[in-house]
Amino acid sequence: MTTFLDIAPVLSEAELAAVRADFPLLTRTLRAGRPLVYLDSGATSQKPDVVINAEMEFYRERNAAVHRGAHQLAEEATAAFEQARAQVASFVGVCPDELVWTSNATAGINLVAYAIGNATAGRGGADARRFALEPGDEIVVTEAEHHANLVPWQELAARTGAVLRWIGVDDDGRLRTDQLASVVTARTRVLAFTHASNVTGAVTDVAPFVARAREVGALTVLDACQSVPHLAVDLHALGVDFAAFSGHKMLGPTGVGALYGRRELLEALPPVTTGGSMVEVVTMETTTYAPPPQRFEAGTQMVAQAIGMGSAACYLAELGMGAIADHEAALTRALLDAVASVPHVRVLGPLDSRDRLATVSFVVEGVHAHDVGQVLDGAGVAVRVGHHCTQPLHRRFGAAATTRASASVYTTVEEIEVFREALAGVRMFFGLDEGRPSK
Ligand SMILES: Cc1ncc(COP(=O)(O)O)c(C=O)c1O
Repeated sequence: MTTFLDIAPVLSEAELAAVRADFPLLTRTLRAGRPLVYLDSGATSQKPDVVINAEMEFYRERNAAVHRGAHQLAEEATAAFEQARAQVASFVGVCPDELVWTSNATAGINLVAYAIGNATAGRGGADARRFALEPGDEIVVTEAEHHANLVPWQELAARTGAVLRWIGVDDDGRLRTDQLASVVTARTRVLAFTHASNVTGAVTDVAPFVARAREVGALTVLDACQSVPHLAVDLHALGVDFAAFSGHKMLGPTGVGALYGRRELLEALPPVTTGGSMVEVVTMETTTYAPPPQRFEAGTQMVAQAIGMGSAACYLAELGMGAIADHEAALTRALLDAVASVPHVRVLGPLDSRDRLATVSFVVEGVHAHDVGQVLDGAGVAVRVGHHCTQPLHRRFGAAATTRASASVYTTVEEIEVFREALAGVRMFFGLDEGRPSK
């Protein structure tokens, strides 16, 4: 049998060492002097120096509010902020004016859902009528969604009288495309689905979803939170109407994310958060709104974070998303082999590495995920435990909680070996298997 240690790494040892040297936190040691093995990148990634320095440089050299003020600092801050927008937009294959800054992916998805709700309530005038929902209209999601791409649609359905329906997942955790024809109907107005699951790692083939949505005239909303950090994503080529992702999962800062919207849709969409910086003319009675993306960016913006996210996009682009995806495909095989080598471990998600991220969630029979996480932590291995904000998906697989190991571009197969050794000792630690856990 081939083991993951036989898998030739795609990035050479020297290249990977150079990447790791960019991430100061990876040199940390933990309790008892153990080196950190960070396998929680699905929750949030570590940050390279270029991102940390970009934020610091902004505060040290250019700090000012953007889009107002006649002084030089405001001008420089605005230029840097808009350059970051162009960097992130180009990273996902769209135009800068189609990219709205948000605080994270959750905020981006809520923005779309609330804007549709506002259109339904008659806001946004004639242009916005195309988004208005009628009682009995349908919103379709999938069983694999993160709560961020489920709860906002439940809320929208409750507010408008629309009906929420969903596509199931198969035993491998893949979305049931065979259900598209029956679940997405002439009544469907929104089809919201994930590009890659934060639990199973399964990557969605977007084309049949977009094709079916177009057939029935529904809007598509893609949760690209887990795909953008790991795969080359071209949102124009995918043909979705909206897509949301977060800076902090793609080596960027927390507090910033982006929402892509097709230009003609953003132009017609009513605002959600209202106030300063998103207006044209305000009288005591009424307000006219700025064109997108400013219409959706009320209040003082997260300038330093946006600049950091721009740097993260450039850093990833320089490494090359093809090389990153190849490296991570090797990590996927290593992770799958690691969990397969340990008895009594059940994986939620595909067991083959095709169309799959290096994100592996599993159950260790007889041991609660929190206890698994604690034993791994004792070996310096940081993983996520719980339902990962996907309670329906966990229910689908009969698991209350799982342990999730998720890798990123800076992860090595040697780290996955440390994880494997620690995992092999979990059941022994709790006296369920014979032997002694390795120290
Ligand atoms: C698939 C997916 N969608 C959405 C989110 C929400 O991202 P954020 O918390 O950055 O808004 C996450 C975060 O874990 C996720 O994994």
